[in-house]
Amino acid sequence: MEKHFAVIGDPIEHSLSPVMHRAAFKAKGIEAEYQRFRVSPDNLGAAVSGLTALGFAGWNVTIPHKEKIIPFLHELTPEAKRAGAVNTVKVDSGRLIGHNTDGQGFVRSIETELVGTDSRGWFNGKNAVILGAGGAAKGIAFALADKGMNLHILNRTEEKAHELVGLVRVRGGEATGGELLPGKWLGQADLVIQTTSVGLKGEKFLFSLAEINPEALVVDIIFRPQETAFLREAKAKGCHTLNGLGMLLHQGVLAWEFWLGERAPLAEMWDALRNRILVVEKG
Ligand code: ATR
Repeated sequence: MEKHFAVIGDPIEHSLSPVMHRAAFKAKGIEAEYQRFRVSPDNLGAAVSGLTALGFAGWNVTIPHKEKIIPFLHELTPEAKRAGAVNTVKVDSGRLIGHNTDGQGFVRSIETELVGTDSRGWFNGKNAVILGAGGAAKGIAFALADKGMNLHILNRTEEKAHELVGLVRVRGGEATGGELLPGKWLGQADLVIQTTSVGLKGEKFLFSLAEINPEALVVDIIFRPQETAFLREAKAKGCHTLNGLGMLLHQGVLAWEFWLGERAPLAEMWDALRNRILVVEKG
């Protein structure tokens, strides 16, 4: 029987998850449909009941529902518990299990860039700077702290940076924080992650990266445009750069494997994402 999957969020029309997951089902010859549904916060509970009643096998959860969906689920995986957020739900004999693949997806996207180095040992004790302290920054911060990185979290609204620092420390991680300003962190960072929305509309970053460590790996979680002004400047300074498309891919791969219990066709999922991005950019 055909299986049904979905992604719920608000807004949702630009989600690339359908393209990626449909490509995976096609490549594996699995009869399944993957749809996207806009669900307003007021309708979240009704939407969860509806998807369950309709026999959906699982769904992804995106902004703004990743935390608010938790009370509607029966069980959380350790990853979801640790993140305090859910991006993947699986229906297992009527029970709704919440999982989170964002953190591990981010770590995997970094690991794929560390060719020639021992990627497992790379993170421990190194300095990561996280720019922004919103929902995306939170998942990334927890994942990197778990890998033993020393975090420095900077945010326009300084209190939010300190709040996130507190959450990381409660979990046993190393973190400091402050206002989103240039400083000596630029020269000391091994990994810099840009998680704010600055750059989505093609705008310049907030300050110059003149002092950045040219050995740093610099990530912008934005992937539309594929190269933000932030990444362009980091690249010009000699840094290795990476956008957020790999993170999207790997969280999707891990979600698909959680649902299907078999290895996902990563290459086909990546091609589907890349092709869609190129079409969108041309259009
Ligand atoms: P997401 O879940 O995508 O991380 P979010 O939770 O709304 O989205 O977080 C947005 C992040 O971008 C926040 O860190 C926000 O900073 P504030 O906490 O000060 O609002 C940051 N951000 C958005 N616009 C910004 C701007 N113009 N300058 C600096 N930071 C900005």
